[in-house]
This record gives sequence, structure tokens and C-alpha cells, in this order.
Amino acid sequence: MSVVDQLRADFERDGPIRFDRFMEICLYGAGGFFASSSGRAGLRGDFVTSVELGPVFAGVLARRIVAGWSMGRPHVAAPCSNGRRVADVGGGSGTLARQLELIGGGTIEAVSVERTRGAVRRLADLPWVPDVVVAHELLDNLPARLVFEGRAELRVGFDGDGATCLFHVPLDPELEMFRDRWLPEPAAGVVPVPVGAIAWVADVAALAPPAVVVVDYGADAAALAARDDWPVRGYVSQHEVDPIAAPGETDVTCDVAFDVVEAELRHHGYVTERLRQRDWLTRHGLDEVVEAAAAVSGDLGRLRAAEARSQATDLCDPAGLGAFWVLEATLPDDVGT
Ligand SMILES: C[S@@+](CC[C@H](N)C(=O)[O-])C[C@H]1O[C@@H](n2cnc3c(N)ncnc32)[C@H](O)[C@@H]1O
Repeated sequence: MSVVDQLRADFERDGPIRFDRFMEICLYGAGGFFASSSGRAGLRGDFVTSVELGPVFAGVLARRIVAGWSMGRPHVAAPCSNGRRVADVGGGSGTLARQLELIGGGTIEAVSVERTRGAVRRLADLPWVPDVVVAHELLDNLPARLVFEGRAELRVGFDGDGATCLFHVPLDPELEMFRDRWLPEPAAGVVPVPVGAIAWVADVAALAPPAVVVVDYGADAAALAARDDWPVRGYVSQHEVDPIAAPGETDVTCDVAFDVVEAELRHHGYVTERLRQRDWLTRHGLDEVVEAAAAVSGDLGRLRAAEARSQATDLCDPAGLGAFWVLEATLPDDVGT
């Protein structure tokens, strides 16, 4: 059954489809964007992430992981001979895990946990308890519900011509509670309620890794509610498209309500700190990583230095990747030890 057929069957059976269910079918259902071979990060793919620009981002993250938090937790299943154990959840092609291992040179053992491919598809499949869980541009792809102006839920259905369209339905008690806790009065915009990210945090917290690093775009829920732009986007071949018009053919991503995710991490005992990506990179050694790229002498060194500088510029662009958030969460036992 195609993605559209699955959506149509849902709509005919139950009426307008919750947006989290819409995302689940479009991205991960049979023939979905990530479930099929279509959705790809990379310079020749559908969207470019900091990871796919080149190794500079991973260089800084590797320094952070190695220098970072105490990892000597007694519950870690087996002694680790290969250094810090890192689970990169939503690892896509596995680029970040590979880069971390290469750059870490024996100090990092990294595994990509990717729902749609590879040997490790869920956190529960990992052979060990990770020291660090990384989620790089994962949360924006986890299913979210949509609240419109604090007074209605947006759901997806089909109009009389068979085209997909949005329906407004009254808020249910779960969304009323969300509105009362997180949204200002009045709320103007459309706010994605990160139900998938909240469930993901619970799964991560069940493993109790000492550190979690989340990188994504978004804002606090109240800031999202104050905006009048549409917080749901799709990307195909590096172009932004309307993900509702062509279900299954495009990425579906939502701004992440970061304060909601932080509250969930704190609820599970974590201490959180959040920085803009450009500030986080600077704090954790971007300049040193760029300088190290030029350590080779001659033309090769000059070429590598130029590439690294160009990546650094893109990673810190205040109108682009530099404005992303890096959220670090650590268990208090490990803070400063
Ligand atoms: C936008 S891509 C990010 C890829 C990569 N991290 C990067 O930054 O280039 C998000 C990926 O997360 C995967 N994913 C979604 N939910 C997941 C889950 N619960 N566990 C593991 N992977 C998941 C998707 O299949 C997709 O490949």
C-alpha cells in the first residue's frame, strides 16, 4: 500500500489524522521517505546537515566527548576497552559514528542507531550501555502534534478533490494540558507538540547514559507560539517543499520545542545546558580543529585548511546552522567529576 493509500484508509476509518500519525506514516511507514531509499542527508542528498558538510563538526564533538563528562558509572555492563561508548541515534548513513571513531583514534567507540537500516535499529539493540547518546537532527523528524493558536489541533485529511488538506479539531485533554503549561495567552502561531521526542527521552532515560547531546533547530514553545511562520518543512534535493502536498515524497520536519524537551530530561534527573551551535563550537575547540586541519605542510595542508575554514563558516552561520541549538544533558553524579 502506498503512503497516500495508508493515509486515505486511516482518514476513511477514523476521520482527520493526527499530525504525529501523519509523520509516522509519511516518514517510516511502508514506502515512507526514510523507510524507502529516498530520504538522504548529504551534499548530493535531500538535505545537508552539519555532519554531512565534512568532519569539522565531528572534530569538535569528539573533543567534547573525550574531554567531557565522567563516564565511570558502575552500571556500565562491561569494561570498555575502546574508550567512550557513543550511540548516535538517528545516525542516517552512519557518517557521524564513522567520523567520531576515526577522529577519536581509539578513544571513542561509536555506533549508529538508525531505525531504517543497519544492524542497530533501536537503543534496546545496543550491545552495551552508552556513555553518551547523541541525537543530531533526529528530534525534528520525530512525530509531533500541532496546536493552532492555542485553541485547535491541526489534523490532515483529504478534500472533495482527493487532495490533502488541514482540518481544525477541538483540543483533547492532552493538548489542553500542553497549552496550559507551555503556551502564552494569546498564542498566535502553530506549535509542534513534541510527543515523539518526549517518548524518545523516556527511552533514553531508561538506559541512564551519563550524557546526552541533542542538536537541532527550534525554540521555546512560547517563542514558537509567537511566530507566524509555518513550523513544518519538507526538503527534497535541497529545496524546501510543502510536506503535506506530497505525502511520502518529502522529508517532514518540525521545529523542536526545546524547553519541553529540557523539562522532560530534567524530569528524568538530568541537568541541562543549551547553547547556540556557533557558541558551543567555539567553546569546545572549533579554532583548534580548524588549525589542526592545516597541520599537513604544502598544498594539501592549504587545501585542507581552506576546506575546514569554509565548513566552520557554514557551521557558525547565524542565519543557518549556527543558530541551531546544542542541548547537553548530564546526570548530576557526573557533573564536574
Ligand atoms: C534528518 S535524519 C539525520 C541524519 C544524521 N543524524 C545527520 O544529521 O546527518 C534523521 C534520521 O533519524 C532516523 N530516525 C528517526 N526516528 C528514529 C529512532 N527512533 N531511532 C533511530 N533512528 C531514527 C530517520 O530514519 C533518519 O534517518
